[in-house]
Amino acid sequence: MDSVQELWNAFLEAKIERGSTVVALGGGVVGDLAGFAAATFLRGVNWVNVPTSLLAMVDSSLGGKTGADLPQGKNLVGAFHAPRLVLVDPETLSTLPEVELRNGLAEVIKHGVIGAPELFRDLTDLTGFQNLSGLSGLDWTEIVRRAMAVKIKIIEEDPYEQGLRQSLNFGHTIGHAVELASDFTLRHGEAVAIGMVAEARLAEEMGVAKSGLEKKITSTLRGLGLPTEIPPGLDEKRIQHALQRDKKKSGGVVRFALPVRVGEVRVGVEVRNLPFR
Ligand SMILES: NC(=O)c1ccc[n+]([C@@H]2O[C@H](COP(=O)([O-])OP(=O)(O)OC[C@H]3O[C@@H](n4cnc5c(N)ncnc54)[C@H](O)[C@@H]3O)[C@@H](O)[C@H]2O)c1
Ligand SMILES: [Zn+2]
Repeated sequence: MDSVQELWNAFLEAKIERGSTVVALGGGVVGDLAGFAAATFLRGVNWVNVPTSLLAMVDSSLGGKTGADLPQGKNLVGAFHAPRLVLVDPETLSTLPEVELRNGLAEVIKHGVIGAPELFRDLTDLTGFQNLSGLSGLDWTEIVRRAMAVKIKIIEEDPYEQGLRQSLNFGHTIGHAVELASDFTLRHGEAVAIGMVAEARLAEEMGVAKSGLEKKITSTLRGLGLPTEIPPGLDEKRIQHALQRDKKKSGGVVRFALPVRVGEVRVGVEVRNLPFR
C-alpha cells in the first residue's frame, strides 16, 4: 500500500485530472499497482498498460483486475478497472531474465491447454531448452499474440468470472497451494507448472481426461525447463493444508478447472477427495 500511496502523491504533484491518462510501463507488479492507483484516484482516471514481462503481456495486463497487497496478505484490495489500451512490444522481452521468461511460459502453456492446441503443439518438442538461446529462434510476436488471444476471448465472454473465466484457473488451485507451501521459494510460474501436471493427473483419475494428457503436459513443460513435480523437501501435508483451507472457504467442496484434452477445459468440477492426503 506504500507504493500506492506514493503513486497517489505523484498524481497529485503532477496535477492529474479526471481527463488525464496514467501510463504503466513494467511487469505485472507495476501494472497491478498503477492500475489500482488509477482506479481509485479521483474515483477513477484512465490508464494505459504497457506490459514488459511475458507474464504481464499474456496474463496480468488482460482482464481489468488491478490490486495491491496488505501486510496481512496478497491482493486483499483491488478493483476491476480495465486500461483503455494494452500496448505490447515483444522486443522488450530481449532483456527479460530467463527465469522470468520461464515464469511467463508456464501461463502461455496454460493458455495453450485451455484454448490453443496449435500454440501448445508449437511449444512441444523444444527439449533441450536450457538457456535463452534455445528459444531465440521462436517467433515471440506470434506466441504472445496467440497466448493473449486465448485470454481476451474468455474475458470478453465472461468479464466477471461467472463461469468460463474460471478456466484460467487451470493449474492454479494446486499451484497456489504449492506456492504457499514453498513459502514462495517457488516462483508463481513454477508452482503453476507443478499444479497443471497434478491437476491433469487428477483429471485422468476422475475420467475427465483420457489417459496420456498428464504425460503430454509434463513433457512440454520439461522441454521449457519448468518443474513438473513437488520439489523434495517440500512437505506435502502443507499443500493439503492449503487445499483444505480452500475447501472450508468454499463450503466444503473445492471446484477445479480440469483439462479434458489440450484445447478444452471443464470448469466447476467438484473434487471431494483432494490429492496429497
Ligand atoms: N491482474 C491480474 O489479473 C494478474 C494476473 C496474474 C498475475 N498478476 C500479478 O502480476 C505480478 C507478477 O507479474 P510479473 O511476473 O511481471 O512480475 P514483476 O512485475 O515482478 O516482473 C518480474 C521481474 O522482471 C523485471 N522486468 C519486467 N520487465 C522487464 C524487461 N522487459 N526487462 C528486464 N526486466 C524486466 C521486473 O523488474 C521484475 O524484477 C504478481 O504480483 C501477480 O499477483 C496479476
Ligand atoms: Zn497465474
